[in-house]
Amino acid sequence: MFQHHGFTAEDTAALMGAHTVSQQDFTFASEIGVAQDTTPNVWDNQYYNDTLDGSAPFSFPSDVNLSNQTSVGPYYKSFGQNKTQWEASFAAA
Ligand code: HEM
Repeated sequence: MFQHHGFTAEDTAALMGAHTVSQQDFTFASEIGVAQDTTPNVWDNQYYNDTLDGSAPFSFPSDVNLSNQTSVGPYYKSFGQNKTQWEASFAAA
């Protein structure tokens, strides 16, 4: 869907990083308010590492699937290693 709307794999991976500050309230009723990385409310690149290694308090299935996807997944690894690169790609996307 992202590709259909003109976003590249890099754009898609970069935008997903907004889940560094997200919490879920409606996806799973038993885990209300649970964050998608281990540094909730901090705008950092920890979401990528936590999604890849499974340490996020709660990951959406779509986040896990994108982190494993052939073209998007490699950016999860590079953004997790390089916050400056992620920020530049996020702003551009
Ligand atoms: C494949 C694409 C995406 C999916 C499937 C997705 C899914 C979700 C889900 C299920 C939630 C939790 C809703 C809830 O239970 O309260 C959420 C929260 C959130 N998402 Fe995404 N998301 C996607 C892309 C994005 C993008 C591109 C951004 C921004 C650039 C974004 C920013 C956020 C934020 C800020 C929240 C937290 C909202 C809040 O705290 O109330 N998401 N997302």
